[in-house]
Amino acid sequence: MRASSERLPHRRWQAAFTIATVQPEESSPIILAEKLTKVYAAGRVPVTAVRGVSLAVERGEFVAIVGPSGSGKSTLFYLLGGLTQATEGRVVIDGVDFASLSDGERTRLRKHRIGFVFQKFNLLPTLSAMGNIEIAYAVSGRAKGKDGQPLDRAYLDHLCDLLSIQGRLEHRPSELSGGEQQRVAIARALITRPAIVLADEPTGNLDTKSSDAVLAMLLRSNRELGQTTLMITHNPEAASIASRILYMRDGEIVREEKGSRSWAVSPAALAV
Ligand SMILES: Nc1ncnc2c1ncn2[C@@H]1O[C@H](COP(=O)(O)OP(=O)(O)OP(=O)(O)O)[C@@H](O)[C@H]1O
Ligand SMILES: [Mg+2]
Repeated sequence: MRASSERLPHRRWQAAFTIATVQPEESSPIILAEKLTKVYAAGRVPVTAVRGVSLAVERGEFVAIVGPSGSGKSTLFYLLGGLTQATEGRVVIDGVDFASLSDGERTRLRKHRIGFVFQKFNLLPTLSAMGNIEIAYAVSGRAKGKDGQPLDRAYLDHLCDLLSIQGRLEHRPSELSGGEQQRVAIARALITRPAIVLADEPTGNLDTKSSDAVLAMLLRSNRELGQTTLMITHNPEAASIASRILYMRDGEIVREEKGSRSWAVSPAALAV
């Protein structure tokens, strides 16, 4: 194992922060889904939201998932993140089959390895924006134990600057706009420097400028921290920053193509 900072090109912002993410050495996919099916049986008519999906995501890949409303994108996101159980099939994260874990172990794996950005933000309503970010770090377990590291305030400031939420951190979610809540949710997901970022419509509520800032942030974390990123989006421009685009329809992945990376990250967006 070695710190990713050793092998990454020098950037100004890297010099200022400890890059704690570690690159595992094996070349097995970091996310592996095999014949995943999810049937929701709660209503009168069972709904098969995901049917027989298999996919492998390599370490450091940036994958976009695109598809019409109701095609099963969020359900796939929940399955890959271990937030719901598959009716059939399995999910293996970094060589570990979710099904082989107890509830507690699954929660630990999730909190330690995965940063989630939810379509509906899922911020805790009674905490401020800052409280939401801090608690995510606390529950990730990174501050615990003898090798524990306290929350890196400089890195937090840096994320909040890039996401333009500095002035809003003392407010509760109900006092923030949808776009601000989304950006807080992104800071919350990235503060732990997770190996995997799962983002469900991270730009869904944002204007073009904020959307660009969020995409630049995700791309940068992917490139510079070596994070594996899987982003669901309706927006073709957002999808084009990915290295691979998967198209979903009626619960299945029907097509796959290389991302064009036509979306240019402006130097201003990447500069600190
Ligand atoms: N908890 C649930 N119980 C029953 N059916 C559900 C549940 N969640 C989702 N569904 C159904 O499963 C299907 C897939 O839903 P899902 O939320 O995964 O779609 P999506 O692609 O994320 O859509 P959107 O783009 O609108 O977010 C839909 O038909 C939806 O109505
Ligand atoms: Mg959805």
